[in-house]
Amino acid sequence: MIELREKNVVRANIIQSDITSHLTAEEIQEIDTELSHVPYKSGAAIDALTIVQSKRGWISDESLRAIAHHLEMSAEDLEGVATFYNLIYRQPVGEKVILLCDSVSCWICGADTIKEKISAKLGIDYGETTHDNRYTLIPVPCLGACDRAPVMMVGDDLHRNIDDKIIDSVFGDLNEDNDSNESRLNSGVKNSSVKNSNSNSEEGQS
Ligand code: FES
Repeated sequence: MIELREKNVVRANIIQSDITSHLTAEEIQEIDTELSHVPYKSGAAIDALTIVQSKRGWISDESLRAIAHHLEMSAEDLEGVATFYNLIYRQPVGEKVILLCDSVSCWICGADTIKEKISAKLGIDYGETTHDNRYTLIPVPCLGACDRAPVMMVGDDLHRNIDDKIIDSVFGDLNEDNDSNESRLNSGVKNSSVKNSNSNSEEGQS
């Protein structure tokens, strides 16, 4: 009986260290800094997700479980937080994420047309990533620049009053860069529901 209990303790320790090992020392240190500013650990959930995403580009199931374990909350609760926020990615994204505002001011000023033009140029729909892994297109609510609608962010850059000229300058002129755009058009990767897939394991991603 005692032997069985000891075995279970050893197994639990192994599982715990497996989970913890999914976070790097640097990630743990940064998360712990945030923890020192909040009264309870789950209060740092968004910061912890953002920290890990900034290092890895997205939040896999393994990362999510490791963060939840570190914050002493359930993976289900943390998943609820992660899926609530548009900017936490639960699937791999491209080098740059295009956040296209689809709220009312931008919609009135032609966000739908802008979306169609970007989709045609890059060969991707919302939630998809170009085959060359450069761009992922995601709709977002108001980016806070309604007076300059339509608006999008590409990586860290905010683009206002988007028109054909801006689309060409950001993504390249289709006529000048025909070959690479053609290849993107033909090979947009179906990557729907960037945020909410159930198979978000790092294992098996290539
Ligand atoms: S509605 Fe698009 S930036 Fe506000």
